Amino acid sequence: MTSDRYGVFDDAAREYVIERPDTPLPWLNYLGQDDLFGLCTNTGGGYTFWRDARLRRLTRYRYNDVPLDSVGRYLFVKDGASIWNPGWKPTKTPLDRYECRQGLGYTCIRGVRDGIEVELRFFVPLGQNVEIWRTTVRNVGVEAKDLSLFSYAEFCLYEALNDMTNYQRTYSIGEVEIARGGAALFHTTEHRERRKHVTLFGCTREVAGYDTSRDAFVGIHNGLHEAAVPFAGRATSSVAHGWNPIGSHQVDLHLDPGAEETFSFVLAYAEEGGTPAGLAVLDRYADPAVVDEAFERLRAFWDDLLSRFQVQCPDPHVERMLGTWNPYQCLVTFNLSRSASLFETGIGRGMGFRDSNQDILGFVHLMPGQARRRILDLASTQLSDGTCFHQYQPLTREGNADIGGGFNDDPLWLVVSACAYVKETGDTSILSESVGYADLPGSRDDLLHHLETSVAYTLGRRGPHRLPLIGHADWNDCLNLNCFSTEPNESFQTAGDVEGAGAESVMIAGLFLYAVRELSGLYRHLGRPDDASRLERERTQLLEAVEAEAWDGDWYLRAFDAGGRPVGSRACDEGQIFVESQAWCVLGGAGAHDERARRALGSVLHRLTTPDGVVLLQPAYRRYRVELGEISSYPPGYKENGSVFCHTNPWITLCWCLLGDGARGLESYLAICPSTREERIETYRCEPYVYAQTIAGPDAATPGEAKNSWLTGTAAWAFVSGAQGLLGIVPDYDGLRIDPRVPGSWDSFHVTRRFRGTVYEIEVRNPNGAGHGVSSLTVEGRKIDGNLLPSRADGGPVSVEVVLGSRTDRGRTATAPATTRVATYDRP
Ligand code: BGC
Ligand code: NOJ
Repeated sequence: MTSDRYGVFDDAAREYVIERPDTPLPWLNYLGQDDLFGLCTNTGGGYTFWRDARLRRLTRYRYNDVPLDSVGRYLFVKDGASIWNPGWKPTKTPLDRYECRQGLGYTCIRGVRDGIEVELRFFVPLGQNVEIWRTTVRNVGVEAKDLSLFSYAEFCLYEALNDMTNYQRTYSIGEVEIARGGAALFHTTEHRERRKHVTLFGCTREVAGYDTSRDAFVGIHNGLHEAAVPFAGRATSSVAHGWNPIGSHQVDLHLDPGAEETFSFVLAYAEEGGTPAGLAVLDRYADPAVVDEAFERLRAFWDDLLSRFQVQCPDPHVERMLGTWNPYQCLVTFNLSRSASLFETGIGRGMGFRDSNQDILGFVHLMPGQARRRILDLASTQLSDGTCFHQYQPLTREGNADIGGGFNDDPLWLVVSACAYVKETGDTSILSESVGYADLPGSRDDLLHHLETSVAYTLGRRGPHRLPLIGHADWNDCLNLNCFSTEPNESFQTAGDVEGAGAESVMIAGLFLYAVRELSGLYRHLGRPDDASRLERERTQLLEAVEAEAWDGDWYLRAFDAGGRPVGSRACDEGQIFVESQAWCVLGGAGAHDERARRALGSVLHRLTTPDGVVLLQPAYRRYRVELGEISSYPPGYKENGSVFCHTNPWITLCWCLLGDGARGLESYLAICPSTREERIETYRCEPYVYAQTIAGPDAATPGEAKNSWLTGTAAWAFVSGAQGLLGIVPDYDGLRIDPRVPGSWDSFHVTRRFRGTVYEIEVRNPNGAGHGVSSLTVEGRKIDGNLLPSRADGGPVSVEVVLGSRTDRGRTATAPATTRVATYDRP
């Protein structure tokens, strides 16, 4: 453990190989893709839950503990006097060799010490409510060994918040059942008629003993690293009555040199059928061949999913992120929204309305059927006036009123996701699916009308500058312009707003321009030009308001506060420029004809761009401003107050692409790309294989430090910015549009794309360095006009050849903005 790097990408295997356990932070992975999910760090830390991380938590996690992940899937090895863990924790006994392979839906940890190698492969078979710990123990030394292994899983009493806060209750109600001599340990707390579920922690091999009481296994005054039973070398057959039920098996092994044994521990959740159902699962996975076959099916599942989009291009980061890790993260964010990670506790936050709608953008090409269901679920949490529950609980699908509301951007994201779904699939039947409104039980409306309700919501709520009212906040949760909070004990997010306050959001205006253009395009596709024109008229009016009221001279304002004063203006002393309004006004088509778009982007480049990405605003707020809210309460350079809030960066990448500047687009794409961070990992700290929500900005005490990895809208937008913005493989209503914006230095690239059931092999050449503009498009050897591949039903593969280099590029320009880029942010 002396090397100065922590790991390396194994691109062929689609794994990140962590080579030392003492990573700058625990590096997380996820197990499961259907109902049962596990969080698994590179030392085996983390927990497992079924469907809802709060309501059905199967194993326990201890928050705010030191070290950060101090409970998990642990296996203790007792080899003579030496007690160690293959994943290093919790004993941290030095290993001769350690490796953790974080793969797609599995984690494989291997530890070697004194001639014994233990390999643990954690995964959840497709469609099954079981987490398998496939265990292989090998004698790689020269002496025969007698070993004892002790497994460890700590049960959670199902409702995670109660489990960690209500000991007067929980310490008396915990129950277990022991079967098969301790090989099958059941957690049966509250297993009565009302609750049918049980959890099994089982071992497929004969056991020499067991424990189910944490106090007996660990010792009342011990930490897990000094757990009593492994150090004593004998299980105690303890039975938990209340307190803290756990599962632990003792497995004794005699291994001659060269010998090995493979078996599994299984953590199974039986929703129905009680303990017999658990035993049936244990029997099924007793055969290692069944375990291996389930693992191969998981691998095949991912190979198939990822085959929908693959790229070969001159940049290895683009290849590996778009080909493997980014879609993987998109699937996880789609499944979990913002509920459970090392930064999201799995307790407070359910499925976010705006978050889940945006997650669909990066996920819809992977599993369109699931995206369809999600869009309809989300629509059903909309209220009849267009507002939306900001969040809902996945298990109950009930809107969560306790976490606040009035985020006036929310409704428009439904339009964006629904249009993206139709563009991907061509399936317009979703628009006539009937969905009710959350405030009118039994009501029915079709999805298309929900989208109209969203548009009407924004149109009906405009302020003195004819711009949309922000409500409690827009995409930026912390821009609370109507709340005026002076009460130290209230949450900004749930604090009420001043009655009738009229702060306006330029970002929502830009989002409206974008969403309505999507929807009018949909109407044209549906053959409803009158509806399209109606929307376009509304759009034109709002665009006029934006250009008349929201241009600050070199960039777009961010908002008008409740007193009508501009936010994000050169007239402000802090918070002079924000990224969100530049991004959304430009993406929405503002400033397209009079250089404003390019000037706004030039300002982003000059004022907000750092080597770590684009910061959210500048200068950061240094004192609390009651008229702005939570944003000004954060320390400068962190979170919404001027970090590189990664979610916004792909928007800027898309803007560069829209302006035809592929070189800046790629630069912007790479600036937040985690795989570029390996060299600066001591500073960056988070996983180099998935995006984080924030990277501390130049105003922070720890610039370059990432936080909140995994569950962030960055994932979906990064995919869109790379696949559609840069590579220009753009689903459209009438087919697949080819519109690349790559750096002039790229000779060529190749994309494999499955679209509406047909596989396209798209070879793009860039012979004269233009990087954009399709000058010729050849499909199966025949030239076609334009840049649209019409959909076809033959399955393919269809070979497509694209040559870039048109001079006109349909009115867009590739020239760089007038301003020059600064290498580091220069403070005004
Ligand atoms: C965070 C935001 C988050 C919001 C809602 C704020 O404290 O800074 O990023 O979206 O809470 O949970
Ligand atoms: C995180 C939230 O999940 C997301 O909805 C929000 O847009 C960003 N924070 C910015 O505040």
